[in-house]
Amino acid sequence: MSRFHENHREDVAGRANVEDTPELLAYYDDLIKYEAGALWTVANKIEPWEPKSESVPVVWRYNDLRAHVLRSVDLVTPEKAGRRVIYLNNPGRQDVHAAVGWIYAGLQVMNPGERASAHRHSASAIRFIMEGTGAYTVVDGHKMTLGRNDFVLTPNGTWHEHAVEASGTPCIWQDGLDIPLVNALEANFYEVHPDLSEPVAFPVDDMTKTWGNPGLTPSGGDWNNGYSPMFKYEWEPTYDALAKYATATDGSPFDGVMMEYVNPTTNGPVMKTMGASMQMLRPGEHTKAHRHTGSYLYHVAKGSGHSIINGKRFDWSERDIFCVPSWAWHEHVNGSSTQDACLFCLNDLPVMRSLGLYREEAFGENNGNQPLL
Ligand SMILES: [Fe+2]
Ligand SMILES: [Fe+2]
Repeated sequence: MSRFHENHREDVAGRANVEDTPELLAYYDDLIKYEAGALWTVANKIEPWEPKSESVPVVWRYNDLRAHVLRSVDLVTPEKAGRRVIYLNNPGRQDVHAAVGWIYAGLQVMNPGERASAHRHSASAIRFIMEGTGAYTVVDGHKMTLGRNDFVLTPNGTWHEHAVEASGTPCIWQDGLDIPLVNALEANFYEVHPDLSEPVAFPVDDMTKTWGNPGLTPSGGDWNNGYSPMFKYEWEPTYDALAKYATATDGSPFDGVMMEYVNPTTNGPVMKTMGASMQMLRPGEHTKAHRHTGSYLYHVAKGSGHSIINGKRFDWSERDIFCVPSWAWHEHVNGSSTQDACLFCLNDLPVMRSLGLYREEAFGENNGNQPLL
């Protein structure tokens, strides 16, 4: 039987429902010789009724991974490794290195005094800082100091390098990139900086100081690069904004108090392919379930609790990373009755929205919450 003879019959009018006969099987074999095939033999497979993600829900627990991430410091140098990163593998994905959907993620570690060489690529990247002091990133000559829970962009095509000051402590951060998407589109270029380093050309943290002021943009500020000029979104003002917003809203039934990181020049997503949000689950909050297209990688910035994804419970606590695949039912629960919990979320919503593929649905039974499987 050839690879094209997998006929997924479904007894539905208008969908492929052809019985194999010796004549048809011979016909299919003839078509193969000419690098062709009969669509009705594969239509039900290549055009599902609804999205069927190959990614599965996973929690990557920081308690399990942290020691192994730190081990890599003794085993390889940043120079030899290029980037000393432990990547997160979704066991459902056999085709690419993805944490979920078309999003790659990893945990990068650097010791004080270490520096990774400058490079650029077509893939866009974000960083979410987990621990350590003294880390900095340089993006197109803009140096940014990095603190815990800061969110940093290295948009596609920008030169970037990372380092930790000699006076700092070991630093770990989450990387998130659209590498699988850009590779699927066969559009990825990668280039090492000719000097292996880039000069700092602006005052430290200038882009956040220029573009990160609430409700204010610089007079005469000119920016039209397709990504946010605010390369770093710091944790303190983000948390303050959420706390303030929480006093003025009931929040979303599905997400609690959620705010999007935006490009201040467009109010749109920070980059063309990836968006990000921070949401606060108030003490004791248990959201309603919904599902939508797009892939979502959550990072627990604060607190602990659990999420129910496609009927299964996944517990999480601070620094854990978990994913919600496209079109999976999900709801979130803050495990504390006194403290809020905050979830950072990296997603491919800008792609879904710009291609007209975004779709969302609320869970209609059981008062909006999934029964546990
Ligand atoms: Fe990079
Ligand atoms: Fe959601």
